[in-house]
Amino acid sequence: MNADVVVLGGGVIGLSAAWKLASRGLSVALVEKFSLYSGTSYVCGGMLAPNAEAKFTEPDLLKASNTSLELWSDFRNELELVSGHTIGFRDEGTLMVALERDDVYLLDHAKRQHEALGLKTEVLNAEEVREREPNLSPRMLRGMYCEDFQVEPPKLMAALIEACRKTGVHLFDECGDSELGKDFVKFKKTEISFKSVLIATGAWRVNREDAPKVKPIKGQMIVLDMPIPICEHIIRAPDAYLVPKADRLLIGATMEEVGFKRGSLAGSVMDLLVGAWEAMPSVYDLNIRELCTGYRPVGETSMPNLGPSRVDANVFYATGHGRNGVLLTPWTAEKISDHILKSF
Ligand code: GLY
Repeated sequence: MNADVVVLGGGVIGLSAAWKLASRGLSVALVEKFSLYSGTSYVCGGMLAPNAEAKFTEPDLLKASNTSLELWSDFRNELELVSGHTIGFRDEGTLMVALERDDVYLLDHAKRQHEALGLKTEVLNAEEVREREPNLSPRMLRGMYCEDFQVEPPKLMAALIEACRKTGVHLFDECGDSELGKDFVKFKKTEISFKSVLIATGAWRVNREDAPKVKPIKGQMIVLDMPIPICEHIIRAPDAYLVPKADRLLIGATMEEVGFKRGSLAGSVMDLLVGAWEAMPSVYDLNIRELCTGYRPVGETSMPNLGPSRVDANVFYATGHGRNGVLLTPWTAEKISDHILKSF
């Protein structure tokens, strides 16, 4: 078959770029090595939290993150409309909590930096935090509210897959290793000729000399059943974050430079559970549903690599989103589809 654009990679970045390109009139095929219903985009927390995650040593990332957050509202409305799926958007925000004196110092530091950047945050004393989240530990000393958001990753993925289908994107998954030529991609018994290719393979770097350097940073996460909500906000404790979903609680996440090593370590699971339990003791009584792992695509800088290859004019990259893939999705989809459309 022929396509104007082949997108390699069926995570949030690849799917959203494919959808945008198709809705702007190009014929698009998307090729995913594994299942579309698995992978880092599927199991991640779905936090849209530039403020709570902000690192003030990364001003470009903070700017891109806040720009993307502004784009999220239109992106979500359009996605839900086109796909007919809701994506579990929630706006309770994040509570960062301090459990020790040192954590209080760090929280105050974050507050000063937030203020300097004009971000919307609010420092709360222990009583005020517990008014908002009564199940937080009585040990808690202070909190800070950040006005940010979250979506539900499996719902987001389902909506993107459906939006792609409805706009005519040809989706191929479970393709295994593919061969990428100058104007074609081959996998199994299929060959697709293209005018341009977008490489959005996350932590899985393609074998091209010009491919941006990216490495997997493994994140282990624990999924607990939560039949009755024990919290409404995302809770960011010193040693774990807790992300409440409709019927489950996610506890994350490790940051490990171990390549694509699989599996969940007893020690990591214990550390995450203790970190979550120290902030919210009622975690103790929840059933473990699943242990998950994802691989964040981390590049040489904190900013993603977006744009054309320095070697071939018909090759584009959208990789290196690190901890911020879901947050940066609308911004990335818009930027990379502009780059590709301009080249036609
Ligand atoms: N953004 C959350 C994480 O990477 O763990």
